[in-house]
Amino acid sequence: MSERSLVLLKPDALQRGLAGRVISRLEDRGLQIVGLKLMQMDMPTAQRHYAEHVEKPFFAGLASFMMSRPLIAMAVQGKNAVEVVRKTMGSTNPQNAEPGTIRGDMAVDIGRNLIHGSDSVESAERELAIFFAEDELLDYQREVEPWVTES
Ligand code: RTP
Ligand code: MG
Repeated sequence: MSERSLVLLKPDALQRGLAGRVISRLEDRGLQIVGLKLMQMDMPTAQRHYAEHVEKPFFAGLASFMMSRPLIAMAVQGKNAVEVVRKTMGSTNPQNAEPGTIRGDMAVDIGRNLIHGSDSVESAERELAIFFAEDELLDYQREVEPWVTES
């Protein structure tokens, strides 16, 4: 089933010059980029995006980090895209992330874990609507698609 997921390349990814390499990991898996923008997060967006975490003790630090510098918001599409992105990212805490994952190879600290990916199809739909207008998500064919996904 083709799905879409919201990916955020967090400010640490851009500050460290890793955005291209992180995007490459997702492209390498065959995921298709269907939306992309450079932006700086504001507090209303942080509260909306991290609604489930607003009351948690780490929210203030998380929000200030996410708003501190520009980030890249992306929509990626593909077969089981939500789970594929999560597996490619690795565990939330990079200390527990397997080598071979983005976090397992490029990060060491839970507060600097480079990337966000939606945790379910429902979350993806909710989160994509926060970052992208409908007409910013492009529906286009890739000729390579039959070589990435059988059906
Ligand atoms: P994300 O939402 O960023 O894709 O990460 P996730 O699902 O793997 O993790 P989640 O539980 O949703 O937490 C969101 C982000 O909050 C930060 N965090 N810090 N200090 C802490 O205990 C703590 N716990 C979570 C991380 O940046 C995590 O990615
Ligand atoms: Mg999450």
